[in-house]
Amino acid sequence: MPLVNAKEMLTKAKAGKYAVGQFNINNLEWTKAILLTAQENNSPVILGVSEGAGKYMCGYKTIVGMVNGMLEELNITVPVALHLDHGSYDGAKACIEAGFSSVMFDGSHYSIEENVEKTKELVGICEKLGLSLEAEVGSIGGEEDGVVGAGECADPDECKMIADLGITMLAAGIGNIHGKYPENWAGLSFETLDAIQQKTGDMPLVLHGGTGIPADMIQRAISLGVSKINVNTECQLSFAEATRKYIEDGKDLAGKGFDPRKLLAPGFEAIKATVKEKMELFGSIDKA
Ligand code: 13P
Repeated sequence: MPLVNAKEMLTKAKAGKYAVGQFNINNLEWTKAILLTAQENNSPVILGVSEGAGKYMCGYKTIVGMVNGMLEELNITVPVALHLDHGSYDGAKACIEAGFSSVMFDGSHYSIEENVEKTKELVGICEKLGLSLEAEVGSIGGEEDGVVGAGECADPDECKMIADLGITMLAAGIGNIHGKYPENWAGLSFETLDAIQQKTGDMPLVLHGGTGIPADMIQRAISLGVSKINVNTECQLSFAEATRKYIEDGKDLAGKGFDPRKLLAPGFEAIKATVKEKMELFGSIDKA
């Protein structure tokens, strides 16, 4: 099945009280592992691409070519959206041109007026082309690809202003942070999430920083309207751990263990296991 936008899968998720995972991709192995896991578990999935990962993978056109090729060659029949993560205004436009089916415009570091203005313009473009659009209010904490946020709690009234522009899904800061959570992390602010959900109604809400959030918090967030959860660091950690073990066990030195198809295989399997675990937790299995 060709790429789809994220609207239908997230509308269904919000109504059905589960969440669709956005898993960020970094290379061919990552992409293949996520697509195969989605297919094996009959789950919709969103492939996330940050601007930094986009550069690393030789640009958005290369990524679109790779993903479209895999959808066909791997016979992927579950719904898959290819989504720009934390895009700038220009980045969003470049991805739209390159053939992404979904983009995020992160205007959280602008004034709310400027965020509204730029988001509105992109709503018009995405509507015309049938793409989904994610917007952000209240910056997400931590650092991702050099984009640093302080982990604010979004203002529910500002969330409503942005939600009313016609976006598909809304990312709002509720004390979440990208990367590993520090020991003294205060946890998600369910009070903020509840207030945002009350103001924004049916709008699917997005929880960034999915790595390391305890299962009970994830479930509570879903019950309060979160329908998309982003995971990046956790796949990186699983991949690195499995690859380190392969090398520490000296397997790259035995026979043809240096062959990249062998050397990267444990990391590939580790990403699959992490993605499956998250799909189980988010409740998206058999929801394709
Ligand atoms: P983590 O790296 O913390 O999983 O966050 C991913 C994310 O929110 C991507 O936008």
